[in-house]
Amino acid sequence: MKVLVVGTGYWGPNIVRNLVEFSEVECIGVSDLDRAKAEKMVARFPRTRLAGPAPEAFGEGYDAAVIVTPVDSHAPLAEAALRAGLHVLVEKPLTRTSADAERLIALAEEKNRRLMVGHVFHYKPEVRELVRLVESGELGNVRYMDSVRVNLGLFRSDVNVMWDLAPHDLSIFEAIMKRMPERVSAIGACHVHHPTTPQETMVLMTLDYGDGCLGHVHVNWFSPLKQRTMVIAGDRKMAVYDDINPTHPIKVYDRGTYDPATDTPMYPALRTGETVSPHVKQEEPLRIQLREFFGAIAEGRAPATDGAAGLRVVKLLEAGMRSLAEDGRFVNVA
Ligand SMILES: NC(=O)c1ccc[n+]([C@@H]2O[C@H](COP(=O)([O-])OP(=O)(O)OC[C@H]3O[C@@H](n4cnc5c(N)ncnc54)[C@H](O)[C@@H]3O)[C@@H](O)[C@H]2O)c1
Repeated sequence: MKVLVVGTGYWGPNIVRNLVEFSEVECIGVSDLDRAKAEKMVARFPRTRLAGPAPEAFGEGYDAAVIVTPVDSHAPLAEAALRAGLHVLVEKPLTRTSADAERLIALAEEKNRRLMVGHVFHYKPEVRELVRLVESGELGNVRYMDSVRVNLGLFRSDVNVMWDLAPHDLSIFEAIMKRMPERVSAIGACHVHHPTTPQETMVLMTLDYGDGCLGHVHVNWFSPLKQRTMVIAGDRKMAVYDDINPTHPIKVYDRGTYDPATDTPMYPALRTGETVSPHVKQEEPLRIQLREFFGAIAEGRAPATDGAAGLRVVKLLEAGMRSLAEDGRFVNVA
């Protein structure tokens, strides 16, 4: 397998570092508009070689491409790679518009190539544990999901904080709920003004799944603290996922109003039971994501986060943008 990595800015080097571990990858081409960045990768990692600029580099004999460039370039680069006959893994979010995502999905189908989106949190062992807790019924019915993903920077000028960070939360919510919300609302503000292209640096997004089940996402580049905390509240138990707690990232609280003796909620009495921190075997999610990409290619099947999964997240971001423009009005998800 010959793999071309396009874009070696902030995130691309993590892809190259993980690709080197795969024995089926015999050669890694590295392409960046800034040649010095690509040269640095080639000097650092074995089995890498300097590739020409994309899209021309897609014709240099590669089997697959990983697109790790700014969001606006995802669709044209992925399209060129698919047309050149390559399997394509595109970093999140898949594209800037759902029309672009739909076009890529149709093209991948036509060319019989795999199209995957890098929803890396889908592959995190902690997220798999949350999914297991919900699927096994241990948490009961999910009543709400509340996520905080904040830190200072990294400020981007090409997208706002919602396009940058919320794809992580939206893909986790999808893994848990296995369905789309019915409506999305978002309000935001720009607290740090880029001189030419100011973007929202803080967004509060609400997702309405019907039946009172809500999702909430707070993403923010202007926070003194780095926080990555998600509460999944079920009507039997509640889980808290703290992504920056290295020893106990998940805690399951046997708390609520549910009475196991009668199998009913016992409003307004509260029940406080044990708190358990399940052991989660660690593995770098990026490596699991790449293994899924190569597995899907080898087996000729859709990857777990395929083009359709990428499209669903883009649709939620588009609905969020419409709501932002209308002061937080709820927007129905198509
Ligand atoms: N999964 C994650 O946790 C995660 C984290 C960070 C970024 N990302 C995603 O990765 C992508 C890149 O983000 P980044 O932070 O690395 O951006 P970046 O701006 O730091 O790097 C992008 C690089 O792409 C290069 N580039 C642009 N167009 C190119 C072209 N046509 N050919 C070759 N190189 C080209 C630029 O020169 C730059 O070096 C984005 O989609 C972002 O959302 C994902």
